[in-house]
Amino acid sequence: MERDQLLGMIKEEQAKNGSVSDGAMAHIAQTLHLPIGNVYGVTTFYSFLSTRPLGRHVIHICKSVPCFLQNGAMMAAAIEKELGISPGETTSDGRFSFELTNCIGACDQAPAMLVDDEVYGDLTPEKIGEILKSFE
Ligand code: FES
Repeated sequence: MERDQLLGMIKEEQAKNGSVSDGAMAHIAQTLHLPIGNVYGVTTFYSFLSTRPLGRHVIHICKSVPCFLQNGAMMAAAIEKELGISPGETTSDGRFSFELTNCIGACDQAPAMLVDDEVYGDLTPEKIGEILKSFE
């Protein structure tokens, strides 16, 4: 029962505070009577959960093979150039965080990325620039 609630509580914490802090993991572990290692393991397993604060918008560029073969690395480089941050970093104004991720299920539109929950495919560096401009 407690284990069934674990992912739900972690996702709720992520949605409420934008990340799952050490303190939040300890609280969840105590509430569900689970070892904190279990909470940490689940939190760090999913690429859409984070143990550190993220920007208002989170970009996930797909690094899996189908996207890689369609110039996925070039798209990641375009984001680095556009925002001045590397994967795993957040812009100083807190507007964007940038992460690499495994397949997001949009291989037919490779190269693809997620910005928050929205999928963007058939990317080009120019298209990425236009997409990012639409986010505050
Ligand atoms: S490999 Fe990139 S979306 Fe599937």
